[in-house]
Amino acid sequence: MKISVNFLTFCVLSTIILSCGKSVPNHDIAINVIPLPVSIEKGEGNYMLTEDCQIYIHGKNFDIKYAANYFANQISGNTDLEFNMVLGTDRPIDEEGIHFVILDEYDKKIGDEGYYLEIDKSIVIKSNTAAGSFYGVITLLQMFPPEILGYKNKDKFELVLPKVKITDYPGFKYRGAHLDVCRHFFTKKEVKKYIDMMAVHKLNTFHWHLTEDQGWRIEIKKYPKLTEIASKRKETIVGKNFDPYIGDSTVHEGFYTQEDIKEIVEYARERFITVIPEIEMPGHSLAALAAYPELSCTGGPFETGTKWGVFEDIYCAGNDSTFAFLENVLSEVIDLFPSQYIHIGGDEAPKARWDKCPKCQARMKSEGLKDENELQSYFIRRIETFLNSKGKNLIGWDEILEGGLAPNATVMSWRGTEGGIDAARQGHDVIMTPGSHMYFDHYQAYANMEPLAIGGNTSLEKVYSFDPVPKELSEKEAVHILGLQANLWTEYIADVDYLEYMYLPRMSALAEVGWTPKKLRNWDDFSKRMVVQYERYESMGYNYRVPTPVALADTLMIPKGRGLELKSPIEKAVIRYTLDGSEPNEKSIEYTTPIAFSKETTVKSRLFYKGKMSSVVSTLVRLGE
Ligand code: ACM
Ligand code: ZN
Repeated sequence: MKISVNFLTFCVLSTIILSCGKSVPNHDIAINVIPLPVSIEKGEGNYMLTEDCQIYIHGKNFDIKYAANYFANQISGNTDLEFNMVLGTDRPIDEEGIHFVILDEYDKKIGDEGYYLEIDKSIVIKSNTAAGSFYGVITLLQMFPPEILGYKNKDKFELVLPKVKITDYPGFKYRGAHLDVCRHFFTKKEVKKYIDMMAVHKLNTFHWHLTEDQGWRIEIKKYPKLTEIASKRKETIVGKNFDPYIGDSTVHEGFYTQEDIKEIVEYARERFITVIPEIEMPGHSLAALAAYPELSCTGGPFETGTKWGVFEDIYCAGNDSTFAFLENVLSEVIDLFPSQYIHIGGDEAPKARWDKCPKCQARMKSEGLKDENELQSYFIRRIETFLNSKGKNLIGWDEILEGGLAPNATVMSWRGTEGGIDAARQGHDVIMTPGSHMYFDHYQAYANMEPLAIGGNTSLEKVYSFDPVPKELSEKEAVHILGLQANLWTEYIADVDYLEYMYLPRMSALAEVGWTPKKLRNWDDFSKRMVVQYERYESMGYNYRVPTPVALADTLMIPKGRGLELKSPIEKAVIRYTLDGSEPNEKSIEYTTPIAFSKETTVKSRLFYKGKMSSVVSTLVRLGE
């Protein structure tokens, strides 16, 4: 009989299963955990799960059930093994089974999210918190063959684990990923899959960008036109055809009901992920103004945006009804999101309308504000006062520094790191998300080789090189850097496959920068562990970007008698290439040994892996001496 491991049907077993695994002789199992743990001590020999298992939850923190349940579902979903859970046991931890233990005394070394994982005669995860136990599970799952994460083909792999002692905890307490669901809408199911992707990377904060010029995506009961009107746009610009503008003549729409939101917030909570909602103001608000034009300076009328960029029509700061509207919206938002933080945007708000608006000018006069930047600061402070009165803290993009920072605000530094440095020096908390390294809407290689994106070139290696703590900060100031976040704006990302392509593999680099101590971060070592991470992505069914073949740095000029050497960043992948300028396909020549040349040639190469292929690498080869 299959016993459900869903925690709703948690059961205490009457017949104790005494055996669930056994020690097996030593054969070397490489440990390829991403993000790299703080300390790994390998033991002698291995441990193999062979039969149905007991999971023992020691103590009374039953939130651990989320971690235990995640583990059990993952294994039993992909093998024939089944698990039962015992809550509140006193069974010795060195006896058979999978033990979750909350430490009696708070262990400062591992903190709120760390864990100890020991695999020997049993499997033991000790932590201060349930979150720590969850991260222990994520590491434990990475000790198994990658197939455990997705295939129901038990015969093809053995559940062998290396005996090991791991001590692990994160370097940063804020490890975030952002998703813009406004430029393109993603369904509830897709958002959950995205949250799963975050969870396997030990990320703990989902920044959900819910309102924009091109669409408002959250149901607000008091303002039905936000879903009737603002959640729709009549069409979307095609490609980058701004001038002359070409639209696709296809309605784009979508929103999450409050029930959907609750479901997603709970889904994230079970994976120890906090969801921070973003409600943009005063700019990026055209869709809301299309529904409620009286909140603007001019009175409209407006249409939900159909092309990208920054629009001049923003909320009127002179109009008290703007604040009433925003406070009512935020009240409903606060009731839906348990997060301590609410993100209010604050970026890219042009001041042209405020400059001409009698109400905005009157506000500046009555409040003694010397310019429109101070009016923006007034706007944000007023919203902050409201949020603080509800027990919440405000986060905004770094433009909220202009005209003076609201007293308790946390700053997301996106226009480089300068805003973050400035805010930290003023004693404010900061999340680093600079466009240079953390904008995953940017290309991951040369644009001509990749699907259409907004610009830039942020390779996996570049993401990996990011250091969230700027050298300019003193140790005391650096305490304000809470962590980092990658952002995914979706102007050019219209479906979930492309979303995953942009996040994977870069989310692995993000994860390691956010978790692993700087002194342990090493690109070559990370690249070796990535070989297995690609197999995990494959098992999990994500549309990751297959990396391109690596050519040696000096390939452009090849000495006579030497060939062009190509390497695959993934084991078992095949490199194929052409010498006639055509795009390599499944039938092109397979690379086996360095390619020899007698004249100048363009080589196009591409990696093929499990039915997927990388984009093309072009290498112009010239013959040297
Ligand atoms: C932003 O990218 N406008 C925060
Ligand atoms: Zn105005």
